[in-house]
Amino acid sequence: MSSEGETIGIIGAGWVGLVTAACFADLGHRVIVRDILPERIELLRAGKVPIYEPGLPELLERNKERLSYTLELTELTDEADFLFICVGTPPTYSGDADLSGVWAVVDELPPLERRLVVIMKSTVPAGTGEKVRSALEARGLGYLGYASSPEFLAEGRAIEDFVHPDRIVVGSFDPADGKRVGALYAGIDAPIVYCDVASAEMIKLASNAFLATRISFINEIANVCEVTGADVEQVAKGMGLDRRIGPHFLHAGIGYGGSCFPKDVTALKQLAGNSGYHFQLLSSVIEVNELQKRRVIGKLEKHLGALAGKTVAVLGLTFKPDTNDMREAASIVLGSRLLAEGAEVRAWDPLADRDSYLRGARICDSVLEAVTGADAAVIVTEWKELRELASEKVHSAMRNPLIIDGRNLLDPDQVRVAGFAYDCVGRPGRSSTASGQAKTSGPQAE
Ligand code: UGA
Repeated sequence: MSSEGETIGIIGAGWVGLVTAACFADLGHRVIVRDILPERIELLRAGKVPIYEPGLPELLERNKERLSYTLELTELTDEADFLFICVGTPPTYSGDADLSGVWAVVDELPPLERRLVVIMKSTVPAGTGEKVRSALEARGLGYLGYASSPEFLAEGRAIEDFVHPDRIVVGSFDPADGKRVGALYAGIDAPIVYCDVASAEMIKLASNAFLATRISFINEIANVCEVTGADVEQVAKGMGLDRRIGPHFLHAGIGYGGSCFPKDVTALKQLAGNSGYHFQLLSSVIEVNELQKRRVIGKLEKHLGALAGKTVAVLGLTFKPDTNDMREAASIVLGSRLLAEGAEVRAWDPLADRDSYLRGARICDSVLEAVTGADAAVIVTEWKELRELASEKVHSAMRNPLIIDGRNLLDPDQVRVAGFAYDCVGRPGRSSTASGQAKTSGPQAE
């Protein structure tokens, strides 16, 4: 790398593309970002950020001298030596990844004078790199380098994940290309795994599938804890101290969601299936997760009886806190099941795009509005605003002071002392089963 840094082209100004662009610019590279949406490019040029990610606007602003935005791919191919593909690869109806965005880029690459390296950041099925290489060769562009360097960025902490990753993965057909791509990350203190392209693609899918498996595993342990009297949080702590297991992604809850785990687990299962292998374990991981989202209904019925005519506050709509993303969120399944049972649904979230929530649900501006007159409040997303949910104000506002804590966010003893009936996930000894009858007085200890 020269002292000025390299020139990098980023294709796709979505969440992955913009985080990657901002972080590479911060490492000292010149970065040109291309998107096909004119309004997106106009916003970026005006210094506005079209997506939500904490710290991203500041990082883009701080590095604006090294960043530019364009609609023209040729601006990138004329000037950059590295082209990162950061387009979306959403699931198709069959569960396979939709690679049309990737193929549109490959087809659009013009004949070039120089040997630049195309790098896949988007999550793609193992084997995609080989197909891209064949397509490039068929177009007479076989002299271009190709590498796979998947992202391991979690929404809400993506910049931290880029700057302080556990590892960087670079797969390439030509090891020299791999080394050049690895050098772009100079300044980041993390081991780099150099490997072949198919292995890099598989590392990404397998990592997400394994994390999802851990979540489904601990959720099943939580469900067994509920019938055996064990406490899943103590179980997870005791398991996690074993260095072979580790503490992460053992937080039981209402099931995983988001734009990555559900899509990637299904895509890996499909990928195996398309090759004639039945990935049995992943079928269970998916099924456990779907059932987990629905278990809240059973808990509500345990306390309230039939849900028809009952009012339920759904607190938190996004798939996790610190994002406005509602894709595959448990709130969607829960909300539609409640409506189907004939319940009234009140929904609150501080960030979610509320217009895209379920038709039929009432969207509320505050937690207090959502719980007023409600027969139950369900914590779906562990927003910090909900930590004080078991307050006197909420108690007197609710028709029936019942909290179902889908994220084990609250302290069961405190909630009980505040006079609420309380149910959570896998902490049976610390839940209380109130009758579900209408309250007669203010907060009281049980
Ligand atoms: C995930 C991975 O964590 C990233 O490493 C990866 O790069 C990213 O997908 C991607 O493929 O782009 P993300 O989907 O943003 O990131 O969110 P996570 O923080 O991993 O959470 C996913 C879901 O699992 C959330 O619904 C969360 O509530 C749930 N979860 C997580 C649990 O239920 N329990 C846990 O212990 C951890």
